Amino acid sequence: PALSEMLNLYDFEAVASQVLTPEAWAYYSSGADDEITLRENHNAFQRIWFRPRVMIDVTHINMSTKILGYNSSFPLYITATALGKLGHPEGEVVLTRAAYSHEIIQMVPTLSSCSMDDISNSRGKGQILFFQLYVNRNKDITKNVVQSAEAKGCKALFITVDAPQLGRREKDMRMKFVNAPPEVQDEKDLNRDQGAARAISSFIDTSLNWNDLKWFRSITSMPIVLKGIQTLEDAILAVEYGCDGIVLSNHGGRQLDLSRSGIEILPEVVEGLKKRGLLNKVEIYVDGGIRRGTDILKAIALGAKAVGIGRPLLYAMSSYGQAGVERALQLLKDEVAIGMRLLGANTLADIKPEMVDIKDLTTH
Ligand code: FNR
Repeated sequence: PALSEMLNLYDFEAVASQVLTPEAWAYYSSGADDEITLRENHNAFQRIWFRPRVMIDVTHINMSTKILGYNSSFPLYITATALGKLGHPEGEVVLTRAAYSHEIIQMVPTLSSCSMDDISNSRGKGQILFFQLYVNRNKDITKNVVQSAEAKGCKALFITVDAPQLGRREKDMRMKFVNAPPEVQDEKDLNRDQGAARAISSFIDTSLNWNDLKWFRSITSMPIVLKGIQTLEDAILAVEYGCDGIVLSNHGGRQLDLSRSGIEILPEVVEGLKKRGLLNKVEIYVDGGIRRGTDILKAIALGAKAVGIGRPLLYAMSSYGQAGVERALQLLKDEVAIGMRLLGANTLADIKPEMVDIKDLTTH
């Protein structure tokens, strides 16, 4: 179908399921085990209802914000997703260009199929990138990766903390991955019998722990954000250990199945940090299952600074390249603008917790 026929993010998913190779579709779409968390990421948003206000002048809508102090036209960033070239011959740079044209931030994955140089060189003027880190058990390699990301212009370090071991994504494992991009890992680290995810992840440091944060602080001046926080307890520790932000995320349902959705955890974390006077110490982001503008409004209402989005943009990229990603982002922006008008909010700061009803959120 023509790109103009894509009216929402689900339309791109339907096209991608047809055009991607079976291997790529399995890698992108899969979740861990029974994929209950994968489905829950989406379903949880449907248990939040709106309490819109009326009789407010909503002529002028402003969706812009700052993420870690960097301008974003919209409270959304492109999260890290590995292996972009499985979906598009040019890989992650397609997302980089689309991010620039929409003035939003891209988080570059450690397991990008484009080099940091390619991505850095594809940037537009003043374009901000963040970097997602999988910690290599070899500290020299980790240090090198972090410092070169910083040298090449990345402005924040998102350390993925929910993946000491990759989850079992059986759809992907059945594919017997054979095409790991050679640049991502040493051949000796590859385990080609168990799907794309496992083939490229055997270097990850299973000993990563809170005490390592001091070392990270010593090797970089980028702000540090922990990606994959799932409880108030860990949110408090993240603040105590001096992190600048946290991403409430279950890795798109690809890690521990039956872990809760980021949006469900958000109220517990916001209230708990507020009670302890810690809320102003960190920015809170949510990812997983964001598919509609209203999902974004719900996260903002409940206290998220921004949301991350993964699969929908991979699907748009795989189906229609850069123009597809740009259209997907525009559809989301249009949905958010409509939602703000109908909620009675002119700016993101006007989207208040009282505008959502979360009575049903934790009943499932
Ligand atoms: C991911 N995700 C991920 N996260 C990370 O920290 N490093 C990575 O390399 C990857 N790779 C990756 C690949 C693919 C194909 C997917 C779908 C996801 C997780 C990602 O950053 C994010 O947490 C989820 O994708 C968000 O959920 P949605 O938007 O895909 O529902």
